[in-house]
Amino acid sequence: MSPIDAIDIRTSLPGPRAKALLEREQTWLSQNYVKDYPLVVERAVGTTLIDVDGNRFLDFAAGIAVCATGHCHPQVVAAIQSQAERLLHLCAIDFSYPHVIDLAERLAAVAPGPTRKKVYFANSGAEAVETAIKLARLRTGRQKVVGFFGAFHGRTMGAVSLTASKAVQRRGYAPFLPEVHHTHYATCYRCPVNRHPDTCSIDCLDLLEETLFSTIAPPDEIAAIVVEPILGEGGYHVPKREFLERLATIAGDHGILLVADEVQTGFGRTGRLFACEHFGIEPDIMVLAKGIASGMPISAVVAKEEIMQWRSGGHGSTFGGNPVSCAAAMATLDLLEGGLIDNAADMGTHLLAGLRELQSRHRVIGDVRGLGLMIAVDLVKDRETREPDHELLDRVLHRAFEKGLALLGCGTSCIRIAPPLVVTKAEADAAIAILDSVLSGT
Ligand SMILES: Cc1ncc(COP(=O)(O)O)c(C=O)c1O
Repeated sequence: MSPIDAIDIRTSLPGPRAKALLEREQTWLSQNYVKDYPLVVERAVGTTLIDVDGNRFLDFAAGIAVCATGHCHPQVVAAIQSQAERLLHLCAIDFSYPHVIDLAERLAAVAPGPTRKKVYFANSGAEAVETAIKLARLRTGRQKVVGFFGAFHGRTMGAVSLTASKAVQRRGYAPFLPEVHHTHYATCYRCPVNRHPDTCSIDCLDLLEETLFSTIAPPDEIAAIVVEPILGEGGYHVPKREFLERLATIAGDHGILLVADEVQTGFGRTGRLFACEHFGIEPDIMVLAKGIASGMPISAVVAKEEIMQWRSGGHGSTFGGNPVSCAAAMATLDLLEGGLIDNAADMGTHLLAGLRELQSRHRVIGDVRGLGLMIAVDLVKDRETREPDHELLDRVLHRAFEKGLALLGCGTSCIRIAPPLVVTKAEADAAIAILDSVLSGT
């Protein structure tokens, strides 16, 4: 029996219709990604995924942390339908329409920090990262960009030059953008410089300040430091507050622009609208996508007004700021501000406590970390050595799927807990119960 009614597995998995579709997928779709398990979804509502054979799954992946308001929230769907009847597309670089202006005004108002902001719209996280790189180079007249080992910023050529999460994401595609350098992130559970978090004074940043600056990347040649306020694909590492504070100081001292990639951390997922708010950081440029419009494609770059200055025609996008996506984003913001951000904070605390209780009983859980509904359960071969157990992660994801819980991984060995922000306590408890039974059987 499943722990909640939302889960209902009626066929062997994959069921007959799913199997047939997966065969066609193999034939016709580019096979650039091996999926963790064979889930073929026909429709979805709230936190429930319904597959093509009528099986129902509890969704703790949210389309990779995208469906902030849950699947097909009626308010978001109504906003999309109503907008679709009036204006589908116009192109915001050549014509004006209220939707982009309304959304820009709203995003500028809620962006962290007191400085006035301006907003640019694109279509994906990677495209917004590209925009941030171009803007930083244009405004500073400098070429170099610094990113972090473990970071993920997307897969287009500029974005992937910053991405340093897994070798497969870069293998075969070199040469990358020149003048991009990487330095250590504060991945304290597996510290890159072998310090203990209680006594460390953010020594991971010495590589940047003492080595890169004095050897290959003098600070006066660096346009931007691009950082995820919480490392996402790299394993949901929440840095110490001092890490981001010191980074902001370093950037400020050297005229380097601080770019916060809030593509995954943004839009309420961490229990604040933007993760930078937890750390008291005002980035010069902020990059947004994923949860912004509950699944409709749109991304944004929010920059300080003095920085968001282009040469006319120097940058643009045909689809950026699509009116239907803008309408979905406005409805999403209404719902987030109307209670979902608070729910993310509350459910995050509840999940963290429940998962830490699991950790006390399952030695394969080396670490449970996170903020709001961005939580990692790090699976290890040995608690002392903290050696990641990637094979176990694969088995856990697959068995959870068989029990009706849809999950994804992150880092090399983490179960990623990223449900829609509408998740309830009963659903959180059901997910923990499934993980408990899966881990008991491994
Ligand atoms: C932090 C971060 N930046 C950028 C991206 C790229 O976004 P997209 O896949 O929309 O290009 C991602 C995607 O996972 C991300 O997590």
